[in-house]
Order: sequence, then structure tokens, then C-alpha cells
Amino acid sequence: MAPEVRRFTDLNDLSQAAAEEISGIAQHSVAARGRFTIALAGGNTPRRTYEALATKYRDVIDWARTEILFGDERFVAHDDPRSNYMMVREALLGRAPISPTCVHPVPTDLATPAEAADQYESTLRRVLADHTTDAGGGDPVTGAAATVDLALLGVGPDGHTASLFPGSPALDERRRWSLAVPAPTGVQPSVPRITTTLEFLDSARAVIFLVAGEDKRRVVREILEQTPSAPAYPAALVAPRGRVLWMIDRSAAPA
Ligand code: 6PG
Repeated sequence: MAPEVRRFTDLNDLSQAAAEEISGIAQHSVAARGRFTIALAGGNTPRRTYEALATKYRDVIDWARTEILFGDERFVAHDDPRSNYMMVREALLGRAPISPTCVHPVPTDLATPAEAADQYESTLRRVLADHTTDAGGGDPVTGAAATVDLALLGVGPDGHTASLFPGSPALDERRRWSLAVPAPTGVQPSVPRITTTLEFLDSARAVIFLVAGEDKRRVVREILEQTPSAPAYPAALVAPRGRVLWMIDRSAAPA
């Protein structure tokens, strides 16, 4: 399925439109399957989208039927400013009526990233288990079990997405949904990460990339134009059977 691309004047317009898209998917998922499951992106770009979900869409989304997961996490404490969970807690969790039982952070308080990834693998399988079997949760074409209704992703200037970095062996994982990866070089924060895998992301019913920043312009252009260099970028490898939407602000949109 060819990706949809929507361009926006600035991050604020992108964020409002993204919150609208997410809210629509949430309502459709609850109507169709009684639940909405979402894997959140980290980094800075999604913050305003999450703030919009907590304010303008606070009473539109059925939070009691929503399961919140994380597409990746830095292996730092949840009160560390580098934590994706901390960003989500500030922008969304602390501002909307979301029960802690519906939020599934990566357990970065365990001894090692590998242990955190192993436990998160179990969490993903447990939370999504009845979701994938309920009401024909499988892929309409292949019948393969879907994972989340929606995965939100960002893109780094090197083409990484989640914490799948160029050349990483994690890109070859087609069994597990969660892996520990070493601290990236040349990408901040350079700390060990826990990331969902392409197997997980490709099984999402929908993927939305939220992209802003001049520093993404080159990789975004190469990915969307499918240049010969594009497959080197992990973001270009995300190929779910379902919908893929790129929401890009003008600073990152190809010239
Ligand atoms: C992370 C994110 C990462 C992020 C991109 C873009 O944990 O850092 O998952 O993949 O989405 O690096 O980050 P910005 O939105 O801050 O540009």
C-alpha cells in the first residue's frame, strides 16, 4: 500500500491534524473491536500531538478502552528527562483521565536492557493477545495476527525510527516484538534502548510517521521518492500491510 503523505505549514498544524487522525482511528477501533491500542513514539516531535489528545480530544477518546504502549524507550529512569515515558506522562498521562492499568511503560528499572526487553516482550504479547484474536483481529488479507491498531513513529536525521538504527542487527529480527539495542553512536541520547521490531511495526493496522525539522529533509525525500539509498534507512523498511501515513511539516518536507 503506497504511503499517504500530508504536508503542514508548521508543527502546530501537524500536531492538531495528527491528534484528529489518532482520535478517528481510536473511535473506529473501539467501534470495530471494543478496544484501541496504540504504540507511542518518543522524541520531541509528538509532544504537541499528545498535548492535543489530552485537551481538545480529552473527552472524544474512550480512554477506558485504550491501551497505551511504547514503540521504544531509552534505558533510563522514568523520571529522567531523557525518558520517553516522562515526556508522555507530562504531555498526556497527567492531563487526561487515563488509568495507570491502561498504560504499559517499558520497565527501565530492571537490571539490564535485555531484561527490560524480555519483560516488555511479555507485556506486548499479554496486552495484545486478546486484542489480536477478538472479532477477527487478524489481517483481512493474510489472516496474520495484527499487533496494535496504531503505531506512531518519528524519523531521525539518519533515517532511524523507534530505536531501530541503520545497520542494526535488530532490523533482521522477525520473531520478537521487543529487543534491547546498544547506545547509538551519533544519535542523542546515546543510551541503551529498548525498541519494538519491524515484525511488530509491520503487524500494526496503521502506522503514522510524525516528522518535523530541517535535519530530516534529506532522508524524508529519499524515503518518499524511494531512491536507491532509501532501504538503508530503517524508517523506509516499515511496511505494514495496513495504512501508512506520513505527516510532515514544511521544514522536513521535500523541496
Ligand atoms: C526516540 C524516538 C526516535 C524519534 C526520532 C525523532 O526514542 O528518540 O523513538 O525514533 O522518534 O529520533 O526524534 P524527534 O521527534 O525528537 O526529532
